[in-house]
Amino acid sequence: MKEQLEIIRREALAAMDEAADSQALEALRVKYLGKKGELTAVLKQMGKLSPEERPVMGQVANAVRADIEEKLEAVKAKLAAKALEAKLQAEAVDVTIPGVPVTHGHKHPMSIVLDECKDIFVEMGFEVVEGPEVELESYNFTKLNAEPGHPSRDWSDTFYITEDSSVLLRTQTSPMQVRVMEQRKPPIRIVAPGRVYRKDEVDATHSPMFHQMEGLVVDEGITMSDLKGCLEQMVKKLYGADSVVRFRPHHFPFTEPSCEMDVQCFECHGAGCRTCKGEGWIELLGAGMVHPKVLEYCNIDPEKYSGFAFGVGVERMTMRRFQISDLRLLFENDIRFLSQF
Ligand code: PHE
Repeated sequence: MKEQLEIIRREALAAMDEAADSQALEALRVKYLGKKGELTAVLKQMGKLSPEERPVMGQVANAVRADIEEKLEAVKAKLAAKALEAKLQAEAVDVTIPGVPVTHGHKHPMSIVLDECKDIFVEMGFEVVEGPEVELESYNFTKLNAEPGHPSRDWSDTFYITEDSSVLLRTQTSPMQVRVMEQRKPPIRIVAPGRVYRKDEVDATHSPMFHQMEGLVVDEGITMSDLKGCLEQMVKKLYGADSVVRFRPHHFPFTEPSCEMDVQCFECHGAGCRTCKGEGWIELLGAGMVHPKVLEYCNIDPEKYSGFAFGVGVERMTMRRFQISDLRLLFENDIRFLSQF
């Protein structure tokens, strides 16, 4: 019997050394120590021993069991460590592989130009304000001295929201002149950028939605020379100190006198080329001295105060600035186009 036990010990320890994984090890535990296991089978024969032999064999059997159990634990720990090692190997991340580059976004060309414009005017002491795109007819037209019947009110040009024409999508940022003058008293110095809407078909130079920036200065003793100096300064900062501008008489209902400002073509310097369509000059904005009637609508005394206003197209300025020939490019959001700026 002692031999039997020794054989079991030897075989069990050797087999456990060979165990490839925890399932194999568990099978060995059942084989040797389980209820129907080999060690149990030997112990069942203890009854046949003499009373003197029994405790001796008992001791041997316990020692064999203890040896096997100890070895089981040791091999179990070894296998677990091996499994962990294999798992770590399989899941290893190579931190030396170069990363996927993150592409940084940047400002839209229109935002670049608009931000520059705002900066130029903020430097000159202007405040940036914003107002509603859905506007009352009275602000867009009547209080800007475009009485009922004025051609600019035509249904074919304006997106009216109500049947009675009292609410519309603003066709210009000029209503902001009235909104500001109604709320503040001079001195006033603001610029008001934002979206405006007109019933235009989309083509290379037109869009039913575009952007303007309105400017307004009201104070005592403001003259046309302030208007000219201020706008010339804007152009020189935007397009370079050697830019040349000219003012042409024009008509707007809410300014008197009114003018348009052109900048000399920077391609041909006035000679005439494709960029300026042979004109030598490129139209940039409308402006004028605030009409006394508009001041009166806003309860500002035209005898005491005067002012100038201007409205510039942001798309147009952006196209000039970056030599973009088609307005639609600004709205299509094609990354191949936008990433060039
Ligand atoms: N609102 C005018 C336009 O859209 C531009 C303008 C603004 C003219 C302010 C004079 C003064 O054409």
